Amino acid sequence: MNKTILAIQSILPAEMEELETQYNVIRLWEERDPEGTIRENQNDIIGVLSTYDSKGVSERLIEALPNLEIIAQFGVGYDNIDLSAAHQRGIAVTNTPDVLTDDTADVALFLLLTVARRAVEGDMFVRVGRWQGGGRMPLSTSVTGKTIGIYGLGKIGKAIARRAESFNTRVIYSSRSKKDDVSYEYVESLEELARESDFLVLACAGGPETKGAVDYKVLEALGQKGYLINIARGSVVVEDDLLIALRNGTIAGAGLDVFAQEPNVPEEMLKMDNVVLSPHIGSATIETRSKMSQLVVQNFLAHFNGNPLLTPVVTA
Ligand code: 8YV
Repeated sequence: MNKTILAIQSILPAEMEELETQYNVIRLWEERDPEGTIRENQNDIIGVLSTYDSKGVSERLIEALPNLEIIAQFGVGYDNIDLSAAHQRGIAVTNTPDVLTDDTADVALFLLLTVARRAVEGDMFVRVGRWQGGGRMPLSTSVTGKTIGIYGLGKIGKAIARRAESFNTRVIYSSRSKKDDVSYEYVESLEELARESDFLVLACAGGPETKGAVDYKVLEALGQKGYLINIARGSVVVEDDLLIALRNGTIAGAGLDVFAQEPNVPEEMLKMDNVVLSPHIGSATIETRSKMSQLVVQNFLAHFNGNPLLTPVVTA
């Protein structure tokens, strides 16, 4: 058998090359007939490298690969992998937690500051010469002293909270459970969290548990002066409700790094000046993507050399 890894998308080039010295690697995104390639190699494929910006790993794909042993996800979130299908077959799943925590938290903060302080508008104001022509920028919104509500207080949520504190804000949160290791106020319901917050920051995991959690009711509770920041998953927000809320001034604005149908962004949103848009770049720095790539390679090597996985996805 030709030990083959099916790479649905690429990790960084150096680590791709490292993988290629050890295994036969199929670069699926370069294949003219991806389905045909998978069929031809189905008995040889023992590993799948998946990324969030690929289609993910469905039950159908898992079923098509009888000798699959490991799925290594290039990312912390794994809501694009059918975990129960993988675990039923005893297939190991790994992800890349920790290394991307700080960079992702930074994106939440820059979205929050950018939308509140109208930074994108300001940049445009200078570029098109309006400032130089004597124009005045509309006033923006202060962040200091405001309440930041974080939905999902995992590692990234906590990193956001620490950053938010340094801006002299009040941090409150809602999560699956109350955390013993923080002193931030816990609010049980998301709607209540939104009502209390000036900035509602989504940092929860994606998947069925959080799908559509932020609907019109939650946005109404956030209110006319409130901002929504999403660095989690587009699926957490009912995007049509968000569009209505932005259109009608039900909320003040939004800073979004993730969307329901990436890379598609609703046409109307592109024209809204109370929204800051970002192309899912939470982990997209050279340093972090390099660490993520290394973790992917190390997990494959550990698995195939019979060593413990570095970062297995463990479910209850
Ligand atoms: C993606 C992410 O993995 O880590 C996550 O869950 O959403 C991102 O870091 C990255 O865009 C690569 O697909």
